[in-house]
Amino acid sequence: MAALSMPSPSVLSFLFLLLLLLLPCNQGFNIKEATVHDIQVAFQQKKLSSRQLVLFYLDQIQILNPILRAVIEINPDALHQADVADLERREGKCSKGLLHGIPILLKDNIATADRLNTTAGSLALLGSVVPRDAGVVKRLRKAGAVILGKASLSEWSGFRSEFAPRGWNARSGQGNNPYVLSASPCGSSSGSAIAVAANLVTVSLGSETAGSIICPSSYNSVVGIKPTVGLTSRSGVIPISPRQDTIGPICRTVSDAVYVLDAIVGFDPRDAATEKASKLIPHGGYTQFLKADGLKGKRLGIVRKPFFELLSEPAIKQTFEEHLSTLRRRGAILVDNLEIANVSEIVSTNWTRIALLMEFKESINTYLSELVHSPVRSLVDLIAFNNKYSAQENVKEYGQTFFLQAQRTNGLNKNIIKAIKRLSKDGFERMMKDNNLDAMVTPDWVASRVLAIGECPGISIPAGYKMDGMPVGICFGGLRGSEPKLIEIAYAFEQATKIRKPPSFKP
Ligand SMILES: *[C@@H]1O[C@H](CO)[C@@H](O)[C@H](O)[C@H]1NC(C)=O
Ligand SMILES: *[C@@H]1O[C@H](CO)[C@@H](O)[C@H](O)[C@H]1NC(C)=O
Ligand SMILES: *[C@@H]1O[C@H](CO)[C@@H](O)[C@H](O)[C@H]1NC(C)=O
Repeated sequence: MAALSMPSPSVLSFLFLLLLLLLPCNQGFNIKEATVHDIQVAFQQKKLSSRQLVLFYLDQIQILNPILRAVIEINPDALHQADVADLERREGKCSKGLLHGIPILLKDNIATADRLNTTAGSLALLGSVVPRDAGVVKRLRKAGAVILGKASLSEWSGFRSEFAPRGWNARSGQGNNPYVLSASPCGSSSGSAIAVAANLVTVSLGSETAGSIICPSSYNSVVGIKPTVGLTSRSGVIPISPRQDTIGPICRTVSDAVYVLDAIVGFDPRDAATEKASKLIPHGGYTQFLKADGLKGKRLGIVRKPFFELLSEPAIKQTFEEHLSTLRRRGAILVDNLEIANVSEIVSTNWTRIALLMEFKESINTYLSELVHSPVRSLVDLIAFNNKYSAQENVKEYGQTFFLQAQRTNGLNKNIIKAIKRLSKDGFERMMKDNNLDAMVTPDWVASRVLAIGECPGISIPAGYKMDGMPVGICFGGLRGSEPKLIEIAYAFEQATKIRKPPSFKP
């Protein structure tokens, strides 16, 4: 127990938050923790409008964002978009689907051709003008979603410097975990995860190159889907690696994440990878796989070394053993003590990092050159900007090691890429095929690199809370295109366990 002496500022802010949370919500419909489905029902019953929804979230952002720093910018057109959605609904023009009128936050590396900036959290891109909406944003607008604003992130999706803290960027500072305010929110899609966890928005989009959706989802007790690379368009998204980058939803429930996934997948002429991957999209979309009995007959692989050994708390180890029992009880067949060949090679950053550095240099130069207007046009310009404004961008403190290393690379080395693909084929992919598995089950985000190099999908969902109150997730990963099975597994596990609790803002 904390001593009852002078309360620290963090304790005071905690009490203040507690007070706000206990205030009654004076709307007929309780927006906090509402799912997309709940909201659509309330829309239909005329108990709620998109305008009320946006006003509620703007209010919550005003109260909580100074502490959480999950939102970089609010869309000045959000209320207008909500009004348009409300009008369309009144006029019965609402056959647009489940995201119609639903507010969404976008990670700040996802371009919008509107009044919002797209900066990856860096001051260097303030004032730049993007040529068009990102491919996924085009789809969201078509679905009638309300773009509420941009979510904070680890600056440049964690790719400026290995020494920059996760969830920090020069524009909005350090994002904080709503469960334990002093703890890391992980990254790089930190703001997207914090915001849905703390009910600052209904749903959000993040992006992942190696762990950036799965990790913050695990740390903030929310659901993240990292889709197969190419299933969602990367056009108009500030890149790291076209080979590994993927855009996906971060939400409070599996269903909400699946509704968002349904809205954003598909072919985009501006992203070549979407052509092949769009053939993986099942007829009728992904909602058909939200089945409560989705675990029945599923073959799940358990790789204890090194993934389960990384769990440090005995109680959490125990929790995961209980989860394995639950999976079994719900009809899954567990194939235990499997091995991934060369796993230490895959999990060490070495190989992947060299590839990412080469790919970043090439793809960021292309992205910057295609902007309509920009104060920076190349990686060289970015490095110079950071040196010039080193105090503002905390360059002295955190450096720009990845930028400098990337600049020193000399074109793409095809052999390294080949070696990475081989590691995946001979490792994870072979294990999945040899054992005829539907998914691999791992705690937290430790399997992210395995999924990253295979361009493979993964879903993280809440799995429990540590002694200090920090959340931990469970991740189901599979082969490319296995989203239908992963959704069945994740949804059935979620329905069987219902672990997620809203955050308590512990100091
Ligand atoms: C975008 O950045 C500019 C320059 O700092 C700022 O004036 C503007 O308010 C920002 N836009 C939004 C929507 O916050
Ligand atoms: C992977 O493991 C195999 C043996 O299992 C070994 O022959 C091969 O050299 C390893 N590959 C790498 C890249 O270390
Ligand atoms: C990979 O890591 C090892 C040490 O673990 C190091 O000796 C080697 O130089 C690294 N390779 C590259 C290409 O950086």
